[in-house]
Amino acid sequence: MKNYKVGIIGATGMVGQRFATLLENHPWFTVTALAASSRSAGRTYKDAVGSRWAMKTPMPASMSEMVLFDATEDIDKIAELVDFVFCAGNMPKAEIKALEEMYAKKEIPVVSNNSAHRGTPDVPMIVPEINADHVEVIDAQRARLGTKKGFIAVKSNCSLQSYVPALHPLKEVYGLTEALACTYQAISGAGKTFETMPEIVDNIIPFIGGEEEKSEQEPLKLWGHVENGVIVNETGVSITAQCFRVPVSDGHTAAVFARFEKKPEIEDIKKIWAEFKGPAQELELPSAPKQFLHYFEEDNRPQAKLDREIEGGMAVSVGRLRPDSQYDIKFVCLSHNTLRGAAGGAVLLAELLAAKGYMD
Ligand SMILES: NC(=O)c1ccc[n+]([C@@H]2O[C@H](COP(=O)([O-])OP(=O)(O)OC[C@H]3O[C@@H](n4cnc5c(N)ncnc54)[C@H](OP(=O)(O)O)[C@@H]3O)[C@@H](O)[C@H]2O)c1
Repeated sequence: MKNYKVGIIGATGMVGQRFATLLENHPWFTVTALAASSRSAGRTYKDAVGSRWAMKTPMPASMSEMVLFDATEDIDKIAELVDFVFCAGNMPKAEIKALEEMYAKKEIPVVSNNSAHRGTPDVPMIVPEINADHVEVIDAQRARLGTKKGFIAVKSNCSLQSYVPALHPLKEVYGLTEALACTYQAISGAGKTFETMPEIVDNIIPFIGGEEEKSEQEPLKLWGHVENGVIVNETGVSITAQCFRVPVSDGHTAAVFARFEKKPEIEDIKKIWAEFKGPAQELELPSAPKQFLHYFEEDNRPQAKLDREIEGGMAVSVGRLRPDSQYDIKFVCLSHNTLRGAAGGAVLLAELLAAKGYMD
């Protein structure tokens, strides 16, 4: 595989820092540009991040002295240095939408963590194990943007990254009709640590702005199909969600209830989960977990602290599968929100796009 030069937009933030650590020794991608707001532009990465560094490993030495660009003002300079960019800027939706389109129109593919373009019908929102075929809308998007190479591809919200993978193979076999998910979300999902979010200690906050809507709607796009150059959402599934912020550093847990057209047997579900793999595994993408869904028989697992790092934080852990008196089944699942749920998921998506030739 060719080596690609990449930029990180929003490099100083929580997700940006994750990108930096994940890309430090990446076999296909080399970081050649870092960008953030005008507050950070012109400063070295080390200086601009300062005490905000929240990763367990040190800042990559190859990046610490790199001088940050202004993500908006310096696009032309960045364009000369990169083959594509990852985007994780925390900005108002309209601004991030416009910024990502500006990059795409400069012929720089954008792989984004942001929600701004998730609803755009010709922007693919991809979990590589689930809907890799949605890449085909990129041709229509390029035609709309008037680009040869530039496009935007996004990953889905971190909240649903645990339960959609677990429901997906069951949906195919049993016909999912309804799901209810209560999520217990880590503070890094808000870009926070215990130092910067002391109000979460000994507490639960029963509201995360916009999260329940995303948790209910985005799965329907992931399960949609491509028709005339746009993605048409799934209409046969109804999802309802409640999202809580809990005192956990990393790892979003979900308690899930599901109903199907055809009632599944518990042991059959475990077999389906054990055997489930997708294009990420078949193409042997460097960041793909070997086993996507890990099932725990112990009734006190998965636990965020013990299980979030499985397969480099790229796998999903599932447990407590049992029949339910109102729905057909219920279970608990967990995924690492800044790895699989954010930067890691975006790196995996970029690997899929590179493997399919979209970065050339
Ligand atoms: N944290 C998660 O688990 C997670 C998961 C999925 C998606 N996301 C999404 O990813 C994005 C980033 O999240 P985060 O948690 O990393 O946020 P964050 O820690 O607040 O970082 C924000 C980043 O955006 C940059 N930024 C802010 N205003 C900007 C501007 N006007 N122009 C260019 N860059 C600007 C900041 O640069 P300065 O340092 O210069 O201010 C910083 O690099 C958000 O949209 C978030 O919703 C986060």
